[in-house]
Amino acid sequence: MKPTILITRKFFPDLMSQIENDYEVILWEKDSPPDKQWILDNLPSTDGIITMLTDKIDDQVISNGASQQLKVISQMAVGFDNIDIQSATSHHIAVGNTPGVLTETTADFTWTLLMALARQVVTSNNEVHQGVWRPWGPEVFAGADVFGKTLGIIGFGRIGQAVARRALGFGMSVLVFVRNAEDQALRPGVEFCDFDNLLQHSDFVSLHANLNSSSRAMIGKRQLELMKPTAFLINTARGAMLDHNALYDSLIKHQLAGAALDVFDPEPIPLDHPLLKLSNVIITPHIASASFATRRRMAEMTIENVIAGIEGKPLPYCVNPEIYGS
Ligand code: DGY
Repeated sequence: MKPTILITRKFFPDLMSQIENDYEVILWEKDSPPDKQWILDNLPSTDGIITMLTDKIDDQVISNGASQQLKVISQMAVGFDNIDIQSATSHHIAVGNTPGVLTETTADFTWTLLMALARQVVTSNNEVHQGVWRPWGPEVFAGADVFGKTLGIIGFGRIGQAVARRALGFGMSVLVFVRNAEDQALRPGVEFCDFDNLLQHSDFVSLHANLNSSSRAMIGKRQLELMKPTAFLINTARGAMLDHNALYDSLIKHQLAGAALDVFDPEPIPLDHPLLKLSNVIITPHIASASFATRRRMAEMTIENVIAGIEGKPLPYCVNPEIYGS
């Protein structure tokens, strides 16, 4: 009998066909995330599960799977805050992710948001599409410069570093905050500083930390008040790092110039959220890694991981390698 892979979202058809040669596939056919009950109902025959960052893989799912035949959870994302890793590790279930491959694509998109925000690309484009062409005028859609300004980067993993490289090309000064002193690897052109200093002195602040207990809600009222009224905030990391109500308050009080958010908490953003009414806010639906090439490579890595896990081999991209012992 072929082992079974559960996949929680429509997948690249040619990759699906490849998998189906050797595995039974149970596929959630809709574009929205599956409900937990669907996952639980299908666990009894599942050897490996391919998850998306929108799926809550909690202790209930993991212990249920572990008591049956689940061996591996392969997440098609670098982030894995939706998975209870502690539970997976304690049940000796391997968890895989897709590190590295989406770094440059995500950094490009961070830059897309930063530039669009500074130069009112979205607002001006929307006006033209609605049939309004404001005649050229000295202050028409005048925005903020990017070159020569200061970018504050919070979190300095692969993506934070890729964003910094781009900033140096724009002649920006780069301030970086990391929680662990040992992450302060020497990088030419980059200055490490404390959190409050970064917020006070940056013209653009971009979030690139992982979501965990110390980064959750790290930007709230107090932190936003420290920022310059001319500064912009960009979040392509995880929505839960930012207090969105505090962000709204600071924007309407003009304590901040604008924000661009590719991630939200919860996702999707409630469609009546007041932030959607503000023209100095850009909101995109968690697409920073969404280039065809990158998403395909992510899918391939996800398959490599799930197959290794089912075959009882170490995952090539493993989040909890401690399950293999030393
Ligand atoms: C990830 O991989 O964690 C990204 O958020 C996907 O866009």
